[in-house]
Amino acid sequence: MPRNHSDERVWFALELSLAWRSNRLAGTAECAGRKGAGIPRREFWATLGSALREDQVTQWIEIEADALRHNIEVLRGVVSPGTQLAAVVKANAYGHGLAEVAPVVAREVEWLAVHSPKEVRELRELGIESAVLVMGFATPHELGWLDDRCHVLVSTEETIGWLGELRRGGGPAVSVHLKVETGTNRQGVRIERIPCMCAAARREGLEVAGLAMHFANIEDTLEPTFARRQLATFHDALETMKRALGHRPRWIHAACSAAALLVREADFNIARVGISMYGHWPSRETQLAWQLEHGKQALDLEPSLTWRTVIGQLKTVPAGETVGYGRTWRALRETRLAVLPVGYADGYPRVLGNRSRVLIRGVPAPVVGRVCMNIIMVDVTDVPDVAVGDPVTLIGREGELAVTAEELASHCGTINYEILARLSPAIPRRLKGTAVS
Ligand SMILES: Cc1ncc(COP(=O)(O)O)c(C=O)c1O
Repeated sequence: MPRNHSDERVWFALELSLAWRSNRLAGTAECAGRKGAGIPRREFWATLGSALREDQVTQWIEIEADALRHNIEVLRGVVSPGTQLAAVVKANAYGHGLAEVAPVVAREVEWLAVHSPKEVRELRELGIESAVLVMGFATPHELGWLDDRCHVLVSTEETIGWLGELRRGGGPAVSVHLKVETGTNRQGVRIERIPCMCAAARREGLEVAGLAMHFANIEDTLEPTFARRQLATFHDALETMKRALGHRPRWIHAACSAAALLVREADFNIARVGISMYGHWPSRETQLAWQLEHGKQALDLEPSLTWRTVIGQLKTVPAGETVGYGRTWRALRETRLAVLPVGYADGYPRVLGNRSRVLIRGVPAPVVGRVCMNIIMVDVTDVPDVAVGDPVTLIGREGELAVTAEELASHCGTINYEILARLSPAIPRRLKGTAVS
């Protein structure tokens, strides 16, 4: 038993770490009470069967509009009352599908945030007129796709020059937010360059409307010392900017999900939230830090994505035979094998071969042999009544069980962000629930 506070932290960390691996937490156990609990496995499975036959696709991604709205509501309850939310929808909305996610979240938050002008163009083609933060590097040509509702995070004088040139040529009157270097050493201008950047923007006729930063080490640690040092630098940058502009910039923002969840001093007036809005903790450290502060079940993020495929073929493999490329799995008993039309080209990582599991008829089935480009094989010997066409859950919940992005990430030695963001845009997406709340 833990004897003192630091023992308690270690025990808690261990427990949480096991929970992530065994899938009890990471946004799964919390939701069990909301959607999965109480539905017998067979009945739950039966609800999937008909969807498959109507749609005639071999794999699909479902996005729960209500889960997105719920997570936004949760985040609103966490950040300070004056802090607006920017929903980060870059990278095809973290793999969820921009066309499905953006119409839902645009109604719920003040801003959208993207990486590139190309994504702004896609948003406008979807009829979404929200204010957009453009956070990544863009070529002069791409900057021409922006409009007056765009605010660009700028960290080079070249970009200011290109925006000025566009403006003079009748282009959009975008607003500039300076991204300041506070210790991430990624994008960002050093504080001493802020006065020249403000002067350059003034010369080019651009409005400097904001100041922004990004944290370097907030997800990977329980120790926020470096984050606090970055915030101190950010405050110095703000003072420098106020002197350069003669006033406080209208928009000030620093927080990503982990900061929005944990660091109230990082709120300012916009929080840029990505992974948490989709229903996932940024890391187990973030979840642990939250729980140490607030108690185990205090924050209920609900994963919004489910990825499913179908059984394409069933066969019996005699004991002793091997399965797949490289012959990395051998049947120790006569094995019922299901062949599924999904592979690493779709975003199911190759390294998951012989490691991960899927859910079929509410029963876990291990992936056996190597993951191929478009195919995986699973051992369904222990799944009763299995049939060709049965839906298979690759990520998501079936009744009381779930396979999470966190579980797959842990097998791959990566983070949930990467598993989600790499889901192929070619997979059909379906929005469940309506875009309008
Ligand atoms: C500049 C910036 N702000 C905010 C975010 C959102 O981060 P998160 O998904 O952890 O909320 C990102 C994501 O990569 C980012 O690059």
